[in-house]
Amino acid sequence: MLYNMKDLLKVANEHQFAVPAFNICSFDMLKSIMEEVERLNAPVILEIHPDEIEYLGDHFVSVIKSYALNSKVPVVIHLDHGGTLFDVTRAIKNGYTSVMIDASTKSFEDNISITKKVVELAHNVGVSVEAELGTIGNNGSAEGGTDEIIFTDPDQAEYFVKETNIDTLAVAIGTSHGLYPKGKKPKLNIDLLKEINSRLSIPIVLHGGSGNPDEEVRESVIYGVGKVNLSSDLKSVFFEEVRNTLIENKKMYEPNEVYPRANSKLKEVVEYKMNLLNTVGKGILYK
Ligand code: 13P
Repeated sequence: MLYNMKDLLKVANEHQFAVPAFNICSFDMLKSIMEEVERLNAPVILEIHPDEIEYLGDHFVSVIKSYALNSKVPVVIHLDHGGTLFDVTRAIKNGYTSVMIDASTKSFEDNISITKKVVELAHNVGVSVEAELGTIGNNGSAEGGTDEIIFTDPDQAEYFVKETNIDTLAVAIGTSHGLYPKGKKPKLNIDLLKEINSRLSIPIVLHGGSGNPDEEVRESVIYGVGKVNLSSDLKSVFFEEVRNTLIENKKMYEPNEVYPRANSKLKEVVEYKMNLLNTVGKGILYK
């Protein structure tokens, strides 16, 4: 089932669970994630960053769409961190059902005006829109962020959502993109999240979902987080296993021999995150 973000997260919000958004960068990752979410009967968001679509190529989206349309669980195809109107229109043309426009490093006024343009474009064709306010940190990830986190201001968030009519808002409450280096401990500001949530009536998005304390992520779902972005926790495990397999089997070169162990490890991470966010079995809530 192909869903847009608004319809997917409405149900999540009503039933107090969140849906993970997994960054897809290879066919094996797509296949493994889809097999696992089918097994768990769990809705899923498959998200693609502009750098990822540049690598994968537009034709890859047809494969994702085919999985989604033939799946018994709801699937959203989402543009992660669209930076320009080109990124957004390319995604809509490719058949994504949700787009993010990230103008968070621009001025507040420019962020509003670009986001409004995207909302007008996307809502006309039933595509949901996510924007970002404040900037999350960056541990050296290609997904961006700033060295210093600029925490989201609740007054600005309230005004921003009213002005732009977006469907979901990504907030900065202490997370960073990428794996945390030794000695850097993430801490989610749950009080700030509570305050932002009390001002908004749309789902909140947590970027930089990897490497955070489980209990804080779980708590964030109670206070309005409906979507958790996860990239590094999956890719690092997947490629660590590919690395190990090739080191242990120096002459191996057939893909159907190289990838199965990595695929199994990836499925374990998917199951873990689905349990953490209370998403397992929730496919039953979608007709
Ligand atoms: P992580 O790499 O920290 O999981 O962040 C992913 C993300 O937020 C994509 O937008």
